Amino acid sequence: MITALDHIAIAVPDLDAAIKRFMDDFGLPFEGTGDVPAAKTTTAFFSLPATTIELVHPLNGEGPIAKYLDKRGGGIHHLCFRSDDIEADVARLKDKGYEFLSEAPSPGAHDSQVIFIHPKSCDGVLIEINQPSEDH
Ligand code: CO
Repeated sequence: MITALDHIAIAVPDLDAAIKRFMDDFGLPFEGTGDVPAAKTTTAFFSLPATTIELVHPLNGEGPIAKYLDKRGGGIHHLCFRSDDIEADVARLKDKGYEFLSEAPSPGAHDSQVIFIHPKSCDGVLIEINQPSEDH
């Protein structure tokens, strides 16, 4: 049986810059790098608590997911980091030059507050920051 989401792999053109981003900018615990000669890769890992799989589908056939499906026909859409102070995280990341898809957080699922970082700021990966309702 499937027991956990073990990891998500992101292909990065500049490993050092990407490690710095996830460690310094996002504050994730860096566990080190390792070569996997059999796969011809160098890997870097950051461990986080257990996560959730989100399936997203257009509401009433409209919106950004409808456009995404038209263009790409499904796929991994975004990663989401949980925050306990989304305003502070957004301000800190804006200071570092990150671009966001909106000026300010907006309502997400389960009464959370959410904002998305532009994929061009993160090697082509769309990253959501989410503050659950109990934290705001
Ligand atoms: Co999401």
